[in-house]
Order: sequence, then structure tokens, then C-alpha cells
Amino acid sequence: LKPAGPPKKNKNFLKRMSDTDKNVILFYGSQTGTAEDYASRLAKEGQQRFGLKTMTVDIEDCDMTLLDTFPKDHIAFFLLATYGEGEPTDDAVDFWELITSESPEFSEGIPVEEKPLSSLRYVVFALGNRTYEHFNAVGRTVDKKLTEFGASKIGERGEGDDDGSLEEDFLGWKEDMWKAVCEAMQIDQNEVITGDRIAAYKITELETFDNNNVYYGEHNEQSLMVNVNRPTYDAKNPYPSPVIVTRDLFNSTIRNCVHMELDINGSGIHYETGDHVAVWPMNAEQDVERLLKILGLWEKRDTVVSVESTDSTVSKKYPFPIPTTYATIFRNYLDIHVPTSRQFIATLANYAPTEEGKSKLTALGQDKEAYRVKVSDAHLTLAEVLESISPDGKPLNSIPLDLIIETLPRLQTRYYSISSSSKSTPTSIHVTATVLTFNPSTAPQKTVYGLATNYLLQVSRKLRNIPHPETSPSYLYSGPRNKYYDESTNNIMIPIHIRHNNFKLPKNPKIPVIMVGPGTGVAPFRGFVIERAHYKAQGVEVGDTVLFFGCRRRDEDFLYESELNELFTTLDKNGKLVTAFSREQSNKVYVQHKLREHDEYVWDLIYNRGGYFYVCGDAKNMARDVNSGLIQIAQSCGAMDEISATNYIKDLRSKGRYLEDVWS
Ligand code: 2AM
Repeated sequence: LKPAGPPKKNKNFLKRMSDTDKNVILFYGSQTGTAEDYASRLAKEGQQRFGLKTMTVDIEDCDMTLLDTFPKDHIAFFLLATYGEGEPTDDAVDFWELITSESPEFSEGIPVEEKPLSSLRYVVFALGNRTYEHFNAVGRTVDKKLTEFGASKIGERGEGDDDGSLEEDFLGWKEDMWKAVCEAMQIDQNEVITGDRIAAYKITELETFDNNNVYYGEHNEQSLMVNVNRPTYDAKNPYPSPVIVTRDLFNSTIRNCVHMELDINGSGIHYETGDHVAVWPMNAEQDVERLLKILGLWEKRDTVVSVESTDSTVSKKYPFPIPTTYATIFRNYLDIHVPTSRQFIATLANYAPTEEGKSKLTALGQDKEAYRVKVSDAHLTLAEVLESISPDGKPLNSIPLDLIIETLPRLQTRYYSISSSSKSTPTSIHVTATVLTFNPSTAPQKTVYGLATNYLLQVSRKLRNIPHPETSPSYLYSGPRNKYYDESTNNIMIPIHIRHNNFKLPKNPKIPVIMVGPGTGVAPFRGFVIERAHYKAQGVEVGDTVLFFGCRRRDEDFLYESELNELFTTLDKNGKLVTAFSREQSNKVYVQHKLREHDEYVWDLIYNRGGYFYVCGDAKNMARDVNSGLIQIAQSCGAMDEISATNYIKDLRSKGRYLEDVWS
């Protein structure tokens, strides 16, 4: 009983535009949903403020070779995120290949020298993170290429930096952009198109339904089908994975690091050492309850509802699988845990129950600094914002639910570097996750719990029969047809899928490797070291295997200490484990300092013996410092000047011998 694949989408976006009478199209290339969210917001704003006839599409669903026949009086928006080493998001790969090829073949076959895109007018907003070297490379390159091919840009390119505030960059950019768009479309900006807010979604409470078809947290049709022979598990259909082994890796009463071994035996899932595993989190019961209560939906939490877009031309008719229940929407599909965005606060002001609440939210929505201190840095969630304007703590019935569904981001999966080796344990995936819990600097009395890591922590505790403090969030919801937690048997499954990654050991095990991974940055290297020791134990010749590991104190957070020691004993003269304990003395000792201490050896492995260099962990400070450390080694040991040393390291990167798996 294999479900039929989705119907083939009609990729002719121009036809769809003319059939539905649109004059603005917004293409997005999105991985985690931010670019998509911005596209929808702009589409809506353009429609409501300026009467533009907008349409939003995933760039993947469009035949972009048609760009050369784009109508002169229309406008195309490009909202494109950049990933990793300047790569496009998965859905933008085809477009990226087209636009960056030497002579892209558009539909009319006009050569690039003759400016095939001269009828195209476009707006571009790039999303990225300045911590990475190739900041916004995709948005920038697309912008440059479109111009080169004859298209004309409207307004300035917007650039969002996730390391600062993407949201503020977006808000700061869009007013001037609208001015330019209005001018281009000959719209009088001041003649504001008013009227009532158009609801983005129609929400219907269902009285009759087949309970087997109701979604209680499942993410697609396949997971509702009971008789599927061999379901395929992928990024659209997570595998509910049993947990075989779990323990806490820190020796501390306040910090936790969860080690978890997930069983993928019989699932058909394959992974390779160095890949990422995505965990599908859910919101904490306390947070769900709090939000449902302030919205006046708590009594109705199990009511079955359908939610459907009111715009028949959108590519996504349903924001999440339906029919579902109010509680499920807030538990499994929407991110109710993020700090509320400034624009959302400004919009909510219109629905405040009192004048006082209205002016409070209006002020917060206008004052960037107050917003940063009180909402963004204080991690103020939607429930907290709403509670703060409810005069007596009573439910606010005035807030339209469709506005919340439209505005809150979708709950996203979280990625972890797999810490096992597929050669050694092909049917079990190991996760190493430091539990994120912090007190915001501007609201120190409050504790913020990272969603997925605290979920893993609770699961780990439950399986080890360790009490989970009542003050901690609870993710073990055991309601109707919940396949992730069965209270009666204490059976817990973690929904996962694999994301393949280029962070790989050299194919030839004789090639030396140097790995730098402080903290949980050690995760993939545990897999690497297991793999090299596995080969060595089988009598395969293995090259030098060097791991630089750093943590606070040997007796507190030295992850996998005894296991690593054993593995390095197996590796014998081919292995070297170098440690940096940052808080065991008055001055900080970090991995990059240790790298310098071993400079001659490191240089010999890289320069003379073709070694690979790997870095995993914090992108912002550590990975940068390590990069400069290596440049200094090239100068001191390789007798290079700064420029040639920098170029040499750059070249290592482009040859795939300097690999990073970093996060910020
Ligand atoms: P610290 O917290 O004592 O400053 C894992 O988090 C280890 O990485 C800790 O020992 C931490 O030290 C250290 N660390 C912090 N900043 C670093 C940096 N810029 N480079 C390398 N290691 C760093």
C-alpha cells in the first residue's frame, strides 16, 4: 500500500500568475522557513498596503528558465538564504546552477551577451550569518547575475544577518524597498489601501470526522497510514526511533550533556560518519497550556479543527497537516517558544483589550531598544506578551487565531552532529547534546529552556528512572494515539531523520587527520576516532589521528574521557589526544593554544603529509581563532608571509582538506 507521490506541480509560474491575475511574485529559497516566512509577510503587506497582487512560491516549484519572458510591468522578489560554505538552500539548488552557469539557457535561447533578462524587474533580500566567511553569497551572487543578464533591480538589496538580528535588518530594509516598488509600479504610497484585515486562514471546528484521519502530531499522510509496507523515512517523514542506551556525560549538578543511542535497525535509514541527525522536537506541556489558556482555547483544546488558507492561489493550502486539534497545533506544529517578533507585537497592539495594553505594545513595537531589552533578550514568548496585556489574567478572546497561525514560525527540526561511526555501529545513531538552559541577562529571574535538548534530557531521565524536576518543562505528553510516548509501557521514541553532510574522513585511512573539537564539538570526532580505531583493530594501516579537545575541567566536562583514552590506546603510535582545560588555572587555555604548542607536528602533517584538518563547534569565536592559529603556524613553520599563509589555508579549504562543522 504505497501512497502515491504528490501530484507533479505545474512549474510554469508565469501561467499561474496570469491565471490568477497576479503582478508580483515572491520566490523564496528557504531551509528553516525564515525566507519563506519573510516572503509571505511581504506578500501580505504588499497586498494590504499597496494593493499589489502578490503570490509566494518556493523557487524549487518554478521553472526558472522562464525568467526571460517575465512581463515588463510585473515584479519578482527573491528571498534567498545562504548556507554553510556559501551554499544555496536545498530548494534553490536548481536555480543556483542555472544562474551561476557560464551561459544559462533561458527559454528563448537568447545568449547572455544579449541580456536575456532585460524585461525582468526584481527585488532581492539575502539571508545569512556574518559569522560565516561566505556571508550572503547566494543572495549577492544572484543579484549580480540578474543585473549582468540585463534585469533591473528595484531599490537596494536587503541583507539580513542572523548573527545580529535578521528581523531588524528585514524591518529596516523594507520601508525604502516599498518606496522603490511603489514608484516602479506607479502606486501612490500615501494612498493607503485600507479595509479590514483579510484573514489568512479559515479555521473550522469539525463536528464529524474520522478519528483515524486526525493528526495528533504526525507530520504527513504516510505516518497516519497503518498498513504501509515499508515506509520511507526522510526529511518529510521522521522515523520514531527507540532509545537503546542513554546517560549523562557531565559530572555536575547544574549542567547536563545527554548521550543517547538511537536504534535505526529495520528502518531502512542509512547514515555515514560525520552526518547530522535531525530531531523533531515538541513544545513543553506547560507552554502549550499557558498559551491555550490566555487565548481562551484551553477548554476546547481537544476540539478537532481544519485550517485552510483563504487565498486559493497559494502553493501551501494548509499550514500544517489537518484535521488536527487546537492543542496539537500549539504542541507540534507552531514554535510558541521563540521571543515574539517586534512586528508581531505592533500588530497585536490592534487587538489589545485595553487602551493601556495597546499603548504598551505600540511603544514596544516602535522602540527597538526597549524591544531588545524587554522582549528579544528577555526571551518573551507570545503567551507572556499576551498575559502582560490581560488586565485580570483572563483569556483574551479578541486575538484572531488565524493571525497567530500566520505569524508564529513553524516548529523546526534541530540538527546534531552524529557522534557514532557508521562503520562500527551502522544501526545505531549516537547523539551528544549539551542541554541549553540559561537566564536572560535582561530578565535574570527567568529560566529559558532550550527546546530540543531539554526534551532529550527528560527522555534520558525517564529511561533511567531519574526524577525530572517539576519546575523543568515536560515534553512527555501521552495523549490520544501518541506514537512517541506510551506512559503505560514507558516506551519512548524520538522522531528523527538524517541530513547528509560533507564533513567526512578521507577515503584513504592512511591520510593523517587533525581534529579540533572543544565541548560538544567533539561529537563527530568521537565517530571519526572510533572509525580509525576500528580500522586499526582490523589490521588496516591507519595514518596519524590527532584530536584537540577542550573543556572547562577534566573532572567535570571531559566528554567520553575513558572511551577516548581506550580508543587512543588502540590507535597506539598513530594516535594523539591533546587536551586544553580552560578553567583549571587562572588563565584560559584553549585548543588553539595547544595547536600552537604542537605547531611543528601539525604543520608537518598538513604540509608534508597531505593531512586533513577538521574543526567542529562554536563558529563565532573558536573556529575563527583556530583558523588564525593555523595561519600563524603556516607563517612560523612554513616561512610564509601573512598573505601567502592566508592564501595557503584558503586553498586547503577549497581543496576540501580544511573542513568545518560549526554552529553559532
Ligand atoms: P571557557 O568556557 O572556560 O571560556 C568548551 O566549551 C570549551 O571551549 C570550554 O573549555 C570553553 O572555555 C572553551 N572556549 C570558549 N571560548 C573559546 C574560544 N574562543 N576558542 C576555543 N575554546 C573556547
